[in-house]
Amino acid sequence: MRYLLRVCSGSYTPFREKGDQAAFLNDLPVEYSGCGLGDFRESCLRVETKEGFRACGLTYAGHRIFGGKPALPGLPATYGGEKDCTTLELTCCDKVLGLTVRLYYTAFEKLDAICRSVQIENGGTEALKLTTVLSACLDLDNRNFDMLTLHGSWAYERMICRKELGWGKQRISSNRGISSHQEQPFMALVEHTATQTQGQVYAMNFVYSGNFMAQAETSQQEQVRMVMGIDPEGFGWRLAPGDTFQAPEVVMVYSDCGLGGMTRTFHDLYRGHLIRGPYKDKARPSLVNNWEATYFDFNTDKLLDIARTAAESGIEMLVVDDGWFGHRDNDRSSLGDWYVNEKKLPGGLDRLVRQVNALGLKFGIWVEPEMISPDSDLYRAHPDYALQIPGRPGTLGRWQLVLDMSRQDVRDCVYEQLYKILSSANIEYVKWDMNRPLTDAASFSLDDDRQGELYHRYVLGVYEMQERLLRDFPHLLLENCASGGGRFDPGMLYYSPQIWTSDNTDAIDRLRIQEGTALIYPLSTMGAHVAACPSHTNSRTTPFETRALAALPGCFGYELDLTKLSTEEKAMIPGQLERYRKYGWVFRTGDYYRLASYSENGEYDALMAVSKDKRIAVVDYIHVMSRERRRSLILPLQGLDENQAYRSAETREVRSGAAWMYGGMPLPKMRGDFLGQLMVLEAAAV
Ligand code: DGJ
Repeated sequence: MRYLLRVCSGSYTPFREKGDQAAFLNDLPVEYSGCGLGDFRESCLRVETKEGFRACGLTYAGHRIFGGKPALPGLPATYGGEKDCTTLELTCCDKVLGLTVRLYYTAFEKLDAICRSVQIENGGTEALKLTTVLSACLDLDNRNFDMLTLHGSWAYERMICRKELGWGKQRISSNRGISSHQEQPFMALVEHTATQTQGQVYAMNFVYSGNFMAQAETSQQEQVRMVMGIDPEGFGWRLAPGDTFQAPEVVMVYSDCGLGGMTRTFHDLYRGHLIRGPYKDKARPSLVNNWEATYFDFNTDKLLDIARTAAESGIEMLVVDDGWFGHRDNDRSSLGDWYVNEKKLPGGLDRLVRQVNALGLKFGIWVEPEMISPDSDLYRAHPDYALQIPGRPGTLGRWQLVLDMSRQDVRDCVYEQLYKILSSANIEYVKWDMNRPLTDAASFSLDDDRQGELYHRYVLGVYEMQERLLRDFPHLLLENCASGGGRFDPGMLYYSPQIWTSDNTDAIDRLRIQEGTALIYPLSTMGAHVAACPSHTNSRTTPFETRALAALPGCFGYELDLTKLSTEEKAMIPGQLERYRKYGWVFRTGDYYRLASYSENGEYDALMAVSKDKRIAVVDYIHVMSRERRRSLILPLQGLDENQAYRSAETREVRSGAAWMYGGMPLPKMRGDFLGQLMVLEAAAV
């Protein structure tokens, strides 16, 4: 391996001992970079002594290798037993600081994935301040890399962004306290020529739901340093003698068969080794959510009307969204007052849920536990529960303030209320929402020199509360949400097997959003609903059937007033549900292939899933914009068994897997915009 240590001994490079090549830190591949001692690329670890000295240099101290993977205290992380994975613990130290750094690498046997995390222990006699602790560092030679990230905004999350990697530092980050709509804690370095099916890809994804940074940096020697971890901006952690700091985990995935290979590795890793709980491998109930049906304007009668229509159509669950508690008739009040508004729901939740259950439906409910409205009993009693900087008025977002989730007493107060609500009726699903970024990030419970810990302590608090919820209500199906997909990250997936993908429920916009999301996250994690038209997001009108086809690959549901549907639309629901039951599992548990991207071609979208045993394949095709063409399209399929014969459920045609893949599947000719079809191939005897 010494050849990797080649240096060009560039001039103007600091060194410690003349002739010692390994002293040219700035030109060497470094496993985990310190600071202040000659490696001028990004520092993974920055430490400040009480005198204000800022330098840290790590040297190898020892290692051990063992089967399985240790859990990370208080943090979400991938998991695996001795048969699944092997862990390397690499111990390094800085003797001057008395600091021990343990680098963990877990390699999964059947997946091209390595999960990394870092633990820092202060073995010295003085308190130290950690001002940067990144979780992963990867030094590579540049190979004409492109940098791939997922950029977005509210209602347009996770748009795929690919550009040539330039010189210097190229960075994405979130300082909003959540992983955010704007940037996703994901970065991949992709060979310039790589496509869905070929080329090398090095990807990182952060198992964390708060501030993060990801950066690729091309140095003077055309080396690339890729790093990921908690955003150093505003971060500071006081490490007393004997204390340990655990940094969250980064998942690193390698693919030599293009982006598709990367995607399938992430999907398998997350489905098999991150998501937990009873719904991990189980079909999720189809649901109707009342948000876009009623917003805040509902009562028991209205909900039961919707529930009745849902039951007649075969939908399995009613979810009551925002507005059932306190005196919340709009978004200006009551967050923090988690008791039922009896004016809307007389007799409380128990009465309503019994009636809904009697119709044969399960029941789910929306909550937003991290927030407090200034107009709430909770705020009037405990104004100090909100994050705030003394002397500043507090910055509102959607008329609300953020609770100080770093405080145990604040969490306990909200949790006790939630516990009562969830124990009061047969509630089988919770949608945990979070509708604004963090500002005024200061806590009364932290000393002055610990305020830099707040953002991270907040995230740890959220994790602690969700873990408690799952422990006390183990049957629960939890769905996370943050104004749509503002906190769609692997950290949240450790607690909830599904996340609300976006507040944008227009079927056509959703194609792009779901394509970007599925680049990393399994289809089984994406909440996807058939919503009303004209769309509440962008006023577009699309056929009812196309909306159902766009939602089919995800966790399927309806989010509109079922009682207002036309007779024809209502009549389509049982068939749509039947299709979800019959083929939804292939999307949820199979291998995903991106065949065509509307965001790239501007005309049509096609994704495909193949069951793990390769006996069944489904192609979800959406014909977005019509274009007069002389010839109809033929779509090469992927992932089939070349030697297996497959019958098309639509045309009854039987061809070999090789013929479907290399010859392709003729797409149905469609006239008009916003149309679509599901195409199914089943293994056939010849
Ligand atoms: C934002 C969510 O994304 C919506 O689905 C809905 O639950 C609203 N919040 C309710 O306030």
